[in-house]
Amino acid sequence: MIKDYLKRTVAEKWALGHFNFSEDEALRAIVESAAEFKTPIFVGTSEGESKHIGLKEAVYLVKAFREEFSIPIFLNADHTKSFENVVAAVDAGYDAILADFSALSFEENVKMTKQSVEYAKSKNPDIIVEGELGYVRGESKLQKEIIEIKPEDLTKPEEASQFVKETGVDMLAPAVGNIHGIAANAPKLDFQRIADIKKAVGDDVYLVLHGGSGMSESDFKNAIDAGISMVHINTEIRVAFAETLRKTLQEMPEETTPYKILTPSVEAMKKVIEEKLKIFGSVNRI
Ligand code: G3H
Ligand code: ZN
Repeated sequence: MIKDYLKRTVAEKWALGHFNFSEDEALRAIVESAAEFKTPIFVGTSEGESKHIGLKEAVYLVKAFREEFSIPIFLNADHTKSFENVVAAVDAGYDAILADFSALSFEENVKMTKQSVEYAKSKNPDIIVEGELGYVRGESKLQKEIIEIKPEDLTKPEEASQFVKETGVDMLAPAVGNIHGIAANAPKLDFQRIADIKKAVGDDVYLVLHGGSGMSESDFKNAIDAGISMVHINTEIRVAFAETLRKTLQEMPEETTPYKILTPSVEAMKKVIEEKLKIFGSVNRI
């Protein structure tokens, strides 16, 4: 089922949105937005995020939302950086996993990613495994400094081709000028590189654009045109949550009911998510 949507993203030139969460308010904001817009959706937890909410808890919460809203919601273990955590996410019942060994040498990255693919598929033949190649700098937060991208950070199309053949991944996260988080400088995406990587990995491997926060509408559209099938957004949701929460607490200094304090933050997160879904072209795709 995930593969059907991935295939369609290429044929119909749109992208699936992948939004991160670490608690149930953000998850609700993502799911309500997706349901309203009739869009299939990826929700993801990084290692830190899943440590907060719990792997099993994330799986069962997503199951409950799926049943309540009757839309395709896929749960991804985002940036999983150890084999132990790959095993834990697969065993917990995640639908997809990013086995991120991009900090290692090319050979070690291939070895660990391949091992992750083999384990994941042996437990769940339908699971989707993503690998990462190249160096995507930054973190999912507001960064005051300029983040400079070096030419050697970027994914080389020939290496991408070898990487996907040797590992058997379904999706690939390349470094193409993207930055995690919002930096002092805007990201400068290399659209030709995205197109070359897509050509090198072939029709059956799908490209994922990380670090979507801070990118412009034309960045997304050109990236999708060049071969991107999924876009990750985290920081902009975090900022909407935190900035609104600060404002709410100031405006309602006497309020103690959690759901009353948190509701404006959910609305702020939904605004961010809905704006992105429209740009990604995933509205009315169910
Ligand atoms: O995997 C998570 C994403 O790449 C998030 O990036 O925080 O820049 O939106 P972002
Ligand atoms: Zn990422």
